[in-house]
Amino acid sequence: MDLAPEVVVLADTAALADRAAQAIVDTAAEAVATRGRFLLALAGGDTPRRTYARLAASPQRETMPWASTFVFFGDERCVPLDHADSNFRMARETLLDHVPLPPEQLFPMRSDAADPETGAVEYGRTLARAFGLKRGETPRFDLVLLGMGLDGHTASLFPGSPVLKEIFRPVAAVHAAAAAIPQRLTLTLPVLNAAAYVLFLVAGSEKAKAVKSVLGERALLPAGMVQPTQGRLVWMLDRAATAMLRR
Ligand code: 6PG
Repeated sequence: MDLAPEVVVLADTAALADRAAQAIVDTAAEAVATRGRFLLALAGGDTPRRTYARLAASPQRETMPWASTFVFFGDERCVPLDHADSNFRMARETLLDHVPLPPEQLFPMRSDAADPETGAVEYGRTLARAFGLKRGETPRFDLVLLGMGLDGHTASLFPGSPVLKEIFRPVAAVHAAAAAIPQRLTLTLPVLNAAAYVLFLVAGSEKAKAVKSVLGERALLPAGMVQPTQGRLVWMLDRAATAMLRR
């Protein structure tokens, strides 16, 4: 990990959700004011649920510029979009079904493609169209939300995965044998590291060991390889997740 990231420690998961929701609203306002729209990639898993619920409630619901917001996903499990384990379904239930986001500005990953590789290629094309990219350009998100697993994975970039070496493709199909849902689609490190702002949301004592590895020992786990080259990197943690970091 090259530069020390900004680390924000909140008392508990409620405070983490409040602070993260406010950060998203503030970043959206700045992006819309300067670039006319807000390009956001959502994280999956459980940790972001409370943050998404905060965004779907007043006052954040009213202050978010939904009409100028474009929502993408950092990764997705290769299950139907209405499956209990779908990140898209989680985001819909906690946030997207409760806010006035124009449906044409919501871009789920094609998790139900017969061949995951096809799904990855299609999402790459979706990003190129939505971002207005020339051939070979990398999408630069205004904000990417990420979580971290117990093994230091982030999005669906798992330790030892060959996809960690990907330097061209923006989206990859991965088979993560250790994961409960092994077949996945994920943004690759070039896209994550091109972002203007990456915000990790990590909570719970069960994450303390991975937090110590990545933030304390700078272990080169996937979450530690997220280093925006020209962007801001912030880790928002609850106190329980920092239990093993040196005081
Ligand atoms: C996923 C996520 C994944 C998640 C971590 C943490 O699809 O599962 O993208 O990277 O962020 O596994 O998950 P929790 O927040 O549930 O601990």
